[in-house]
Amino acid sequence: MNILVTGGCGFIGSHFVEYFLKTYPESKVINIDKLTYAAHPDMAKHLGTLAPDRYSFFQFDIADSNLKSWAKNQSFDAIVNFAAETHVDRSILDPDSFIRTNVLGVQNLLAIARENGNKRFVHVSTDEVYGSLKPSDPTSVETSQLDPNSPYAASKASADLIALANARTYKQPVLITRCTNNYGPYQFPEKLLPLLIANALEDKPIPVYGDGKQVRDWIYVVDHCRGIDAVLQKGRPGEIYNISSSGEAHNIDVIKKVLDMLHKPHSLITFVGDRPAHDRRYGLNSSKIKQELGWSPKTTFEEGLKKTVDWYLSNVDWWKKVRGAEYLKYYQSNYENKFGSESKKPKEVNS
Ligand code: NAD
Ligand code: TYD
Repeated sequence: MNILVTGGCGFIGSHFVEYFLKTYPESKVINIDKLTYAAHPDMAKHLGTLAPDRYSFFQFDIADSNLKSWAKNQSFDAIVNFAAETHVDRSILDPDSFIRTNVLGVQNLLAIARENGNKRFVHVSTDEVYGSLKPSDPTSVETSQLDPNSPYAASKASADLIALANARTYKQPVLITRCTNNYGPYQFPEKLLPLLIANALEDKPIPVYGDGKQVRDWIYVVDHCRGIDAVLQKGRPGEIYNISSSGEAHNIDVIKKVLDMLHKPHSLITFVGDRPAHDRRYGLNSSKIKQELGWSPKTTFEEGLKKTVDWYLSNVDWWKKVRGAEYLKYYQSNYENKFGSESKKPKEVNS
């Protein structure tokens, strides 16, 4: 199968391109990416060296209407869409770019898939569309109500609904995956795990939002990629597949675990004001993909965390470079003051 991947220079997309090229030696991958701040410098070139004859890269915005005429001259059997604005905190500060890329961009890609022979379209979505669970709630299934709370989650839920409407109206072979929080090498150090590792290695405070008792359901990035591939190859058109490793954990426990792995003191933990509308708990039921497509996760949280921490330890230059001057300027003007003056104050919390 030859595929058009979008957002293949980002965290999950780049792992997927690498996984796909290595797993299917006959396959070809076309990667289009706008190369936003979240794209990895040099990733387009690095992926090219894996399979120079089977990989091509084009810098493009998925919301650009010129993409349609460009795509007419390309040959692919399916589209896998990773391209998105992805950080909840940024969506609170600047929601417009999330609507443009995550909603209008997906609408553009759906039309491209249709106009190029009604190609299979895998849309990579998130558990955040289900909103927040209470501690006693069962984990979310594919038919659970959509109840997004952040502009990011709302933009992803909107795209999911548009994709499903296209499947019904135009008989488009659209498939949606909804996965939990990913972690692993090459994650931009503004998300919790890489930020925590990088700050700890530099002996900087670890900002913990609210009381740190929020629950996230963690999955190693390569397991997510294997799940997307199973859906691409064998999923039923028009269906949604949750992907989870059943790795629910409180943020504060994950933070302490990583600090212990790095032999860094818990005194780096700094409680700060909470994210507005902060989802308390995500938890996903992935029985459907396991039973229908035979997928299951291979990496335990312990193994995955060790691989991740080791990778950040061995790639200090990488994360120092991406946390360079431009990022720090953004971070200092927005992040350190984010969510109002309350967030500047460290909080007293019993943990
Ligand atoms: P990321 O932020 O690391 O990478 C996003 C990539 O998309 C970047 O390379 C960026 O340059 C590119 N991009 C952004 N806007 C674009 C545009 N308009 N046109 C073309 N390219 C554009 O994101 P990620 O963490 O790799 O997430 C990939 C996908 O997986 C997203 O759709 C996200 O919603 C979904 N997802 C992520 C997680 C997670 O934990 N990270 C969990 C579930 C689902
Ligand atoms: P994040 O990695 O931003 O993913 P998401 O919000 O999409 O789940 O955050 C994971 C959890 O960690 C979330 O509950 C917010 C929290 N968090 C902090 O406490 N401090 C931080 O500096 C960050 C980035 C996140």
